[in-house]
Amino acid sequence: MARHLITSALPYINGVKHLGNLVGSMLPADVYARYLRSAGHEVLAICATDEHGTPAELGALAEDMDVAEYCARHHETQRELGERFGLSWDWFGRTSSPQNHELTAHLARRLKAEGYTETRTTSQVYSVADGRFLPDRYVIGTCPNCGYDRARGDQCENCGKQLDPTDLLEPRSALSGSTELEVRDSAHVFLLQSKLADRLRKWVDSKSDWPNLTRSIAYKWLDEGLEDRGITRDLSWGIPVDPDDFPEAAGKVWYVWFDAPIGYLGATREWADAGLGGDDPRAAFDRWWRTGAGADEVTYTQFMGKDNVPFHTLSFPATLLGSGEDWLLVDRLKSFNWLTYYGGKFSTSEGRGVFMSDALELLPGDYWRWYLMANAPESDDASFTWELFGDAVNKDLVGTFGNFVNRTATQVVRHFGEVVPDGDPDGAAEDLLWERVGERLRDYTDALDQLQFRRSAAALRALWAEGNVYLEEREPWRVVKEDPGGAACILRNALRLALLHAVASEPFVPEASRRLAEAFPDAAHTGFTLDATLVDDARGSLAPGDRFSPPGLLFTKLSSEDLAAWEDRFGGGDDLGR
Ligand code: MF3
Ligand code: ZN
Repeated sequence: MARHLITSALPYINGVKHLGNLVGSMLPADVYARYLRSAGHEVLAICATDEHGTPAELGALAEDMDVAEYCARHHETQRELGERFGLSWDWFGRTSSPQNHELTAHLARRLKAEGYTETRTTSQVYSVADGRFLPDRYVIGTCPNCGYDRARGDQCENCGKQLDPTDLLEPRSALSGSTELEVRDSAHVFLLQSKLADRLRKWVDSKSDWPNLTRSIAYKWLDEGLEDRGITRDLSWGIPVDPDDFPEAAGKVWYVWFDAPIGYLGATREWADAGLGGDDPRAAFDRWWRTGAGADEVTYTQFMGKDNVPFHTLSFPATLLGSGEDWLLVDRLKSFNWLTYYGGKFSTSEGRGVFMSDALELLPGDYWRWYLMANAPESDDASFTWELFGDAVNKDLVGTFGNFVNRTATQVVRHFGEVVPDGDPDGAAEDLLWERVGERLRDYTDALDQLQFRRSAAALRALWAEGNVYLEEREPWRVVKEDPGGAACILRNALRLALLHAVASEPFVPEASRRLAEAFPDAAHTGFTLDATLVDDARGSLAPGDRFSPPGLLFTKLSSEDLAAWEDRFGGGDDLGR
């Protein structure tokens, strides 16, 4: 039994996440966490909402709410949606928690003590009417490049040009509309990443098992020269800088990208403080994060979209390494490309694509989990289409997995009643079946061990298909007429295989797997582990006479009318001009 810490990139607080956000971090993290748990390992799966920075402030402004209240409400919504998708976090925390405030202050203090911070003065836009400095994107004006009159100070949305707020013509405040803007000096704390570059490079060099996508992003940044980074901001919402430690930056807050990854630690501390790691919260926390307190035995795996990679391979490790303390650093880092909606961007601001709340309105989480993971944007971007979604549901879930279970259940009940049939002992055909099942299962767990999700979904699909192949080869519906003992043997094996499917499928489709497992109330499958031993365990389980209560249809087929109606509602290829 090994110990695994799993984190997924923390979703921004501003609104419901779309399926692209889900498949790029939270969902694969959950599949992996469920897999490791059912393989018998000790797992701590941590996530949280990322609640600071301009997205939170702007979101609250748009809903005319107090920021803290806005964050509290959206945190609850995101938790509820995540749970309905079957995300089995051990803790879903908040970067605004007192624990994260404390850890952020602590790490900043440590970085200063180790000589890795410095105060520098920068020029920034100040709005007299608003009485505050404006972040770049709070300054709007006319784009010098294309003339668009609502360009933001960081970028023009119309022509895409990167801008500085001072480039804008007729600049004004996005908050009040006031044009009374000045450029003023402001003192900020900088993290001296340049001084940490050699240590970071050595550390990245040691990660020879990282995937190419991850390593090449890290080296690109290192080769271009790691720049020192301003880690404070002139905002009111955020984690306040401790004036005792940094008097020059009093009244400011830490930059969201400084405190957000510390949120992994903060959320773990929340978990520990809630008593979930035992009576001693301090020890429970340290055991997962401090290498001197046992975390050297932990394998730490992070999940994220590719845009997050530099922050996790360089900035966050810089914070932890620079502290001079024994923090656990990431071991394995799995990053994803983009899921597009018919080749275009899923867009939170424009409401394009399918959002977690929409999806659950249509179908239970398992359907989406399967489709998304089987088509994950792993080595390349992937495009969501209703057609692909329909195929994943109708061919794989209904036509392969559901069909095998349903055919088996129908035959068992029709000929033998709601019990595991007795009958002939296993023969050569059964030995062959379980041998093939063993091979498929090995493919499946190998792929999961390697964090290859499309490959593991394909292997699971092949494992399901073995059931149908066996039934078609052995034809219990025909055999039963002359040889009931032979048919009983076939169906007994089919039931045992269905039980194996229930255990093996749990990481991908937990709800259907639970229902299927409940069909075998006398089986000892709660003690099974998802590894090579599962074959013998499943084959040796279900004694003749054990109860079998048919699970009913595990999945419902989607009609072409359903799919057409959804394409209509959400927009499809035609509407988007593709
Ligand atoms: N909120 C960020 C995003 O959605 C991810 C933050 S990851 C963290 O891109 F580690 F910083 F928390
Ligand atoms: Zn422009």
